[in-house]
Amino acid sequence: MRFRVRPVACFTGVAPVPGDKSVSHRAALLAALGEGPTEVHGFLEAEDCLRTIAAVGAMGADVTRKGPGHFRIVGAGLSGLHEPDDVLDCGNSGTTARLLLGVLAGQPFCAMLTGDASLRRRPMGRVTGPLTEMGAVFLGRADGTKLPLAVRGVRPLRGGTHRSPVASAQVKSAILLAGLAADSPVSVTEPTLSRDHSELMLREFGVRVERQGSTVTLTPGPLRGTTIHVPGDISSAAFLLVAAALIPGARVTVPRVGVNPTRTGLLDALGAMGARIARTRAADGGEPAADVTVSASGLVATEVGGALVPRLIDEVPALAVAAASARGRTVIRDAAELRVKESDRIAALVREFGKMGVRMEERPDGLVIDGPQRFRAGRVASGGDHRMAMALTVAALCADGATIVEDVDCVATSFPEFAHTVNLLAGTDAVVVEEG
Ligand code: S3P
Repeated sequence: MRFRVRPVACFTGVAPVPGDKSVSHRAALLAALGEGPTEVHGFLEAEDCLRTIAAVGAMGADVTRKGPGHFRIVGAGLSGLHEPDDVLDCGNSGTTARLLLGVLAGQPFCAMLTGDASLRRRPMGRVTGPLTEMGAVFLGRADGTKLPLAVRGVRPLRGGTHRSPVASAQVKSAILLAGLAADSPVSVTEPTLSRDHSELMLREFGVRVERQGSTVTLTPGPLRGTTIHVPGDISSAAFLLVAAALIPGARVTVPRVGVNPTRTGLLDALGAMGARIARTRAADGGEPAADVTVSASGLVATEVGGALVPRLIDEVPALAVAAASARGRTVIRDAAELRVKESDRIAALVREFGKMGVRMEERPDGLVIDGPQRFRAGRVASGGDHRMAMALTVAALCADGATIVEDVDCVATSFPEFAHTVNLLAGTDAVVVEEG
């Protein structure tokens, strides 16, 4: 499938985005480990999260879809899941794979995990390493560091302290989930704080989780089924908000979008670039959510590095579009993690935006982007990476003619309604979906 994208003269309105991907995965997993029913509202019904739903179903959680985004999941408790009778296919979803490995580490049975070609290339040793220290056994490609992987869980696992070399919520969450089956508390220290959805939601399920600086400690204990409201995904909203900042006269409001401070780095970066951003007060309790509005303004360059990076790591493709349009030199550093996402996003941004006449300098851990530059119409490809597909589409909305974005099926992993939503805001069929 490809998008044929025409530049737009207008981009205005109120556009809800689907549920947060990270929060949806966690809702499915924790509900499956919980005692009694959990009602999940606003669940992201996109391919990645449906992989997690399928996996917990295959292990005995009782999953009922009650309506759009509404699931009732009756958990099996910490000891009630059973061995899946087939390989668990995580598709394109790193969060499914890594968080599941954490759950499976503490289940006294054998399970096998695989994924698509992109996921089979991604590093799993960052998770299987600490889980092996806790007592779980892994067998798989590249010495147990690449999918397909077999896990033999052990109960109880050993508690203790872990130091993650990367600020990765997937690593942290895998260790915390395994810690639920440990004989004593488990702590994880990360270099800087990554998204804390697992910590917040574990508390909602009644588990004791404490944080001091960038160290999180979980005390093993049962999970009580609960009700979860998943906010809109700021990582999906990012594409609409960046388009709103760039297209002259644009103004877009995304209602009830998640504004957890560990995820709002893009709003901070856009604010530093001079974007006009307004947000309502965030609602309290669980995950904070607010209505966020961005209106077009002339942008200036910014510097992104350090503790800001984990707070916007998934938004770098969108941010790169803003940076190319901004006046001055934008430097993005400390972001080598971009190389092990759904694609090597540093290389992909340089290559694909180069095809649109926009030069970005590749650095081992980031990018240097001089602006303003004009996006030229052309033919670009996502490389199977959903966030690349959407970032290229936003650039194409600002280009000087019609652009083809190839290989866009991947958008369904996180934002199936993306093209439709862009067209609503554009007031015209700016994005036409073509088969083949
Ligand atoms: C995620 C954590 C991040 C992020 C990914 C989702 C999560 O990955 O890039 O899209 O839900 O925990 P890392 O943990 O590898 O940084």
